[in-house]
Amino acid sequence: MVDHLFEGSNVSKIGLGTWQLGLKGWGSGYEESELVDGLRNGIKNGLNFIDTAEIYGMGKSENLVGEAIREFDRRQFFIATKLAGFNASAKRVKKSLTNSLNRLNLDYIDLYQVHWEPSVYTSIPELFLELEKALKEGMIKHIGVSNFSAESIEKANNSMKESKVESNQIKFNLVERPNSKLLDFMMENNMKLIAWSPLAQGFLSGKYSAGNRPTGSVRRINRLFSTSNFEKFSPLHTELKRISEERKISIVQLVLAYEKHLGVLPIPGFRNTKQVNEIISANSIILSPEEIKSIETALRMIGPIETSVGFYPRFLPNFIARLGFLFI
Ligand SMILES: NC(=O)c1ccc[n+]([C@@H]2O[C@H](COP(=O)([O-])OP(=O)(O)OC[C@H]3O[C@@H](n4cnc5c(N)ncnc54)[C@H](OP(=O)(O)O)[C@@H]3O)[C@@H](O)[C@H]2O)c1
Repeated sequence: MVDHLFEGSNVSKIGLGTWQLGLKGWGSGYEESELVDGLRNGIKNGLNFIDTAEIYGMGKSENLVGEAIREFDRRQFFIATKLAGFNASAKRVKKSLTNSLNRLNLDYIDLYQVHWEPSVYTSIPELFLELEKALKEGMIKHIGVSNFSAESIEKANNSMKESKVESNQIKFNLVERPNSKLLDFMMENNMKLIAWSPLAQGFLSGKYSAGNRPTGSVRRINRLFSTSNFEKFSPLHTELKRISEERKISIVQLVLAYEKHLGVLPIPGFRNTKQVNEIISANSIILSPEEIKSIETALRMIGPIETSVGFYPRFLPNFIARLGFLFI
């Protein structure tokens, strides 16, 4: 994967995800003050890439991120936020962008990503021309997408006059990956892969099992936490445990260090400062060739689950999709 990452910006190799700051769906024990403190601690210790979105808690996450970053110099953090797919049209983009800027209390956003592919009734070229306008006006510094196929990225790139889509944020971790066609396309087009769910929502943390599943609606509907998947990936869990014990680091640190080694940008979510501290330490861990080989051997024996980027209901008109999200 490319390593130039957002030309001119000094971005950490591991970032922080803030879906959890939306305070919805993650189960018990997620407290506003702990999350804000955790985020501040991360930024203080060099994790400057912060990912949020207008839909996380319907603006709550952006508000709390805005509160957390207030005490820092603007050059100390790089904010990536997302335009919801149901607002992704030339007509609505400016309003969403202005609202995000207000919630974050910023006068520009470093990376503005289209959260998922827009409805089939929306013109991708018109949307990206509007985004290019926002770039020229200085409201955003870089254009990115999330959960986009190669075809849609190509359409977006062909429509813009001077700009290119610089990153695609996709589900990517040791057990879940998209097909190599998308990964090859991104590599050929010098795009950064921003890895969401880098810990497979905790499936890779080593603390869950078929008899001890996480709570909260987000993970209750995640089929990865099924009994058959715990069985399938048990040899990988065993190997990760062995390597992490030998190296005297946690499984989470091992997983993040391996993803960093691949050149992707993992953006783990967190529940408190303790977890952020582990993520901070992972930022400086460099794995040995033997450790990498052991992980890859275990992975080759099982094979990841192939994920699809097109899982959002693109055939729904935007106003229906927007209503649907009120119930999530
Ligand atoms: N673009 C998209 O469509 C999209 C979709 C999903 C997420 N995202 C972004 O990606 C970010 C990360 O993805 P994610 O939140 O789905 O999953 P994740 O980062 O794979 O997992 C986050 C969870 O892992 C556990 N964890 C974190 N650090 C830990 C540690 N040190 N030790 C043990 N457990 C630890 C915590 O859960 P527990 O402690 O409760 O187990 C935490 O909530 C999100 O916050 C969001 O910014 C984007």
